[in-house]
Amino acid sequence: MTPWFNPVRELDALLRTAAAATPCFNGAQNFDPEIRPADPRFGDYQSNGVLPFAKSSRANPRALAAALLSTLEKETACAPAFFSAEIAGPGFINFKFTPKFLDEWLAQHASPDAIRAGASAFYAGRRVVIDYPSANTAKQMHVGHLRPMIIGEAIARLLQFCGANLVRDNHIGDWGTNFGILLFALKRSAAQPETLSLDDIERLYKEGSALTKADPAGLDAARAELVKLQTGDPANTALWHRIVSISTSAFQEIYDLLNIHPDVTLGESFYQDKVARIYHELTATGLAEESDGALVVWHDEHPRFSRTSTPPQPFIIRKKDGGSNYASTDLATILYRLDHFHADECVYVTDARQQDHFQQLFLTAQKWFNATGRTLPTLRHVWFGTILGEDGRAIKTKSGDPLRLKTLLDEAIERASAIIDEKNPDLPPDERLHIAKTVGIAAVRYADLSQNRILDYAFSWKKLLAFEGNTAPYLLYAIARIRSIFRKADASLPAVSPASADRAPLETPTEIALARKLLAFPAALEQACSELRPHFLCSSLYEIASAYSAFNNADKVLVDAPDIRAKRLFLCARTADILSTGLHLLGIEPLERM
Ligand code: ARG
Repeated sequence: MTPWFNPVRELDALLRTAAAATPCFNGAQNFDPEIRPADPRFGDYQSNGVLPFAKSSRANPRALAAALLSTLEKETACAPAFFSAEIAGPGFINFKFTPKFLDEWLAQHASPDAIRAGASAFYAGRRVVIDYPSANTAKQMHVGHLRPMIIGEAIARLLQFCGANLVRDNHIGDWGTNFGILLFALKRSAAQPETLSLDDIERLYKEGSALTKADPAGLDAARAELVKLQTGDPANTALWHRIVSISTSAFQEIYDLLNIHPDVTLGESFYQDKVARIYHELTATGLAEESDGALVVWHDEHPRFSRTSTPPQPFIIRKKDGGSNYASTDLATILYRLDHFHADECVYVTDARQQDHFQQLFLTAQKWFNATGRTLPTLRHVWFGTILGEDGRAIKTKSGDPLRLKTLLDEAIERASAIIDEKNPDLPPDERLHIAKTVGIAAVRYADLSQNRILDYAFSWKKLLAFEGNTAPYLLYAIARIRSIFRKADASLPAVSPASADRAPLETPTEIALARKLLAFPAALEQACSELRPHFLCSSLYEIASAYSAFNNADKVLVDAPDIRAKRLFLCARTADILSTGLHLLGIEPLERM
């Protein structure tokens, strides 16, 4: 058995080899086995590829399928041991894993260590810089900041688990025109920098912004403050430091709640002394040119970013006023990540609205690195949709402001607490608090991660806190249930791996169905990792928990017969291991009880 058994890949390889050795497949160059999950009534996986191949080679599909299976049986010694195969309909092939194989797989591959060992091959030794949550300073965190944190953290854990050598880089927005307005407003107010709160800063920014819009003199004054900051004026620099530090300590409170730990925080300001080189190199290589006083890059091969596209959308890398911007700092950031972190790959986690920026950034970087003989790291933009209210519109408070993240997370904990009180009133108070906190935050996290990230989704308390369905409470409950069985059996969870001789073979339909769902976990993990989409992981965990629940209802675990009891405890342990591993990757830690 390979160290990491992905049934799709395994069957695909077997069928390709068998087809190559079957004369009527003509060398099998154009044969794609098309392995897909099967209808569980007929098998675990099916191969659909014989039909299109037969059509293009004008052969009888059932005859081809039969020839293929006969080669498979002859040439692949292990084949009969791990599955049975059957031709169905016009020429599909159904594969069913044998219970013995499922049992062996569970014994060898479903422990936490084995899962990690198998997964760590995907990104082995690759240096990845992941850029999240990267919020902008001088503003409170609101609902919109939830997704980069949750998705970023899940992807970071996933990559690390899969062997990546990871740097979590929090690229905060701590520089830009808004600081001119803020400094202007701060100076004309009576506010004391020492006692300033993030609320004050937000209010001052709003005031300043209104003033600069209403009065050209205000706008000039704000610009002057910005220039002073950019040229290193000590008073403005000190105020700027103060504002950034107020913001970062407010961020920290949320990071703690969500268990987010950036390795480095290198915001936009960090790159201010590194942008001149960008202007120089991009101009010298002929990539950038002056346009209306700004320095811009066009991509004439691109339908929307070329000189002739309407509306014109150049990649502006230096503003008219000579200042740097989001694009210039991002270009400098790529170079820094290569030089300093030796990045093989950079992953950026932001909302969908930044797709154009990243497309232009990646195109520009590619040409620039080519022209300067550098190796460009793989660049990936992980973007996501918007969180909507239950009415399908952006979530707002009654007064129309965006909902604060802290308020939302507090409410999650409060609501979870009310549910736990009702379900389990006898828990000691500190454990109850721990459970409420875990369940509340996990529910918010999981609701987000279980959606395909590119879609918008509607935020619903009722759905995300439900104990039934594809939710965190449901999954946490499955683990708690398993743990309680072990408490009753007076056995410890990880220690259970009875020798196969002491275990009865897998037999009941629910035992086998559960084992099959567990076997599907590696492929889900692999897919989540290669597409950077955690929802594949969630779907697999949900299917495992559902199969576990059916097993639990149908097959009593703590029976008298020692070999059956050993088998079922073993299945429970493997289920708990895989569910806990999966949840941990999503940023959720399991509970002993709830
Ligand atoms: N600060 C940006 C925002 O809040 C996100 C930064 C993403 N990272 C980057 N390197 N551009 O939208």
